[in-house]
Amino acid sequence: MAGKVVTAIGTPNIALVKYWGRRSGAVANLPTNSSLSITLDETLHTKTSVVASRDLARDTLYINRELQDLEKTTDEKVAFTKKLLDELRAVARTDEKVSIVSENAFPTGAGLASSASGAATLGFILPRALGLDLDTQQLSTIARKISGSACRSMFGGFVVWERGTKPDGSDSFARSLVGPDYWPEIVDVITLVSSGRKRVSSSEGHTRTPQTSSLYAVRPAIAEERVGALIDAIQRRDFPKLAEITMKDSNSLHATMLDTYPPIMHLTDVSRAIIDAINELNAREGELIAAYTFDAGPNAQIITLERHRQKVIDTARSIVGKDNVLVAKQGAGPRLLGESESLIDEGKLIHKYLAQL
Ligand code: PMV
Repeated sequence: MAGKVVTAIGTPNIALVKYWGRRSGAVANLPTNSSLSITLDETLHTKTSVVASRDLARDTLYINRELQDLEKTTDEKVAFTKKLLDELRAVARTDEKVSIVSENAFPTGAGLASSASGAATLGFILPRALGLDLDTQQLSTIARKISGSACRSMFGGFVVWERGTKPDGSDSFARSLVGPDYWPEIVDVITLVSSGRKRVSSSEGHTRTPQTSSLYAVRPAIAEERVGALIDAIQRRDFPKLAEITMKDSNSLHATMLDTYPPIMHLTDVSRAIIDAINELNAREGELIAAYTFDAGPNAQIITLERHRQKVIDTARSIVGKDNVLVAKQGAGPRLLGESESLIDEGKLIHKYLAQL
């Protein structure tokens, strides 16, 4: 009996205090420190359709029209997806196979958190396709199992991911700090430096940095302190404090990456020119009006307030040109889409794109 196709849209998040480094152990994606992020609106997004059915002979996963090998993949996130799928099937007591089609509306693997967006959207929709009715906290835990930072994209606005302490990871999930309407003036000026794939995956970095960087030893405690100070700044809507913490934490992340052996170098000369330009802008203004932050890639995300948006866009454009600057606001987290948005052909149970060939 063919199941119903379900479709959802989800978005990336930008961490102001970053997750970098995993606790060792058997459970996937347990962080050494808590982190805090902003979930972005649908300027950048992932759309995912899933159908579970006995009519399907095997599980398939398409990401951006590319079929992933669920059985023999070398991509850790695809392997985690397969493991999660088997876990959820056991909970749902079903042996139905699934067809998953996922499309990112932004450069994949460019350090723009496409994996967080993809994993959050899949984590949101997969249990539903298997007939499970879970709450957002449970969905956050599920998304974490595919890509750690994805657990934060399950909620809108400012989100905290408490590291948790239990070895089974059952207390490591995100929670909403404040929704997107609490501080709506916050804007993210996304400044594209390169859309190429990164050379070192985050998965590799999460293990290699804690194992080889001596600077990393101090990072978890500092990051934990920063999460506390940032929560306090958000509660007071203190933008200069938020900006200071954000820039310091990005600097600290990239310092430990460089101290990793062999080093992980994501920032380029263009990234560094953006850092200088933002520091100069803040100096000219006489206060912190903008904060750069970089994930595992060269692209900058510059957090500012609506009233400074144009100055920050102009500064970013002066470095990367006018076509490489996008602006996102805060988003509300994943949501279901109607049947007309489905990426799966309901009759053939395959990718609509393939059904049309
Ligand atoms: O969730 P992962 O494994 O893709 O790791 C993402 C890590 C950073 O984006 C660099 C930081 C973060 O907290 O999002």
